[in-house]
Amino acid sequence: MPTFEARDPSAPAFWSERFEQNFMPWDRGGVPDALQRFVAQTPQKHVALIPGCGVGYEVAYLSEAGWDVTAIDFSPAAVAAAQAMLGPWASRVVEADFFTFVPKIPLDLIYERAFLCALPRDRWQQIVERWAELLPPGGLLAGFFYFDDAPKGPPFGIAPAQLEALLTPSFERIEDSLATDSVSVFSGRERWQVWRRIAR
Ligand SMILES: C[S@@+](CC[C@H](N)C(=O)[O-])C[C@H]1O[C@@H](n2cnc3c(N)ncnc32)[C@H](O)[C@@H]1O
Repeated sequence: MPTFEARDPSAPAFWSERFEQNFMPWDRGGVPDALQRFVAQTPQKHVALIPGCGVGYEVAYLSEAGWDVTAIDFSPAAVAAAQAMLGPWASRVVEADFFTFVPKIPLDLIYERAFLCALPRDRWQQIVERWAELLPPGGLLAGFFYFDDAPKGPPFGIAPAQLEALLTPSFERIEDSLATDSVSVFSGRERWQVWRRIAR
């Protein structure tokens, strides 16, 4: 286990240090099965945002499926890693902070993986509010949610009831299943869920 100076996961330096030292226990190294199943089942070519994309394997996969994908990360080291990996899709990755980023075109889907659980619990309300602002009624929040109650993180797990309390004012859940191919840090506690934005 390497040693790190940065201690605040709300700051880009925390994540950059970990990418630079190649310490990324969250990194799936590819596209999760449940996302692949979702893409295979949906004829719609979504306009999607991937907040906190990390290496962003999903960017190439979704772009090749015909989606219009923008991926953002506020860590310059994460953006560099993603751009180096993505080849022709590198320009789809932008260095930006999720809380201030404004998409160039309206979104209809936000893909979540290991972003909510990357940030301290006192930031979650803000994340959910931004998800709701960025999606029109009918828009989808689709991805992976990590359920756990360990006080220390990241990853910061959520309780099922807390996720519902945060999301149900603005979203309704339309899919829920246990992830079958989680990396070990999330194993058995990660679920694929799709939430639909409801009218204000
Ligand atoms: C645990 S990693 C997950 C990366 C990727 N989603 C994955 O599944 O491998 C969390 C990522 O969120 C990024 N991040 C954290 N806060 C952010 C913010 N406010 N804006 C943009 N990116 C952020 C970090 O730099 C890091 O790359």
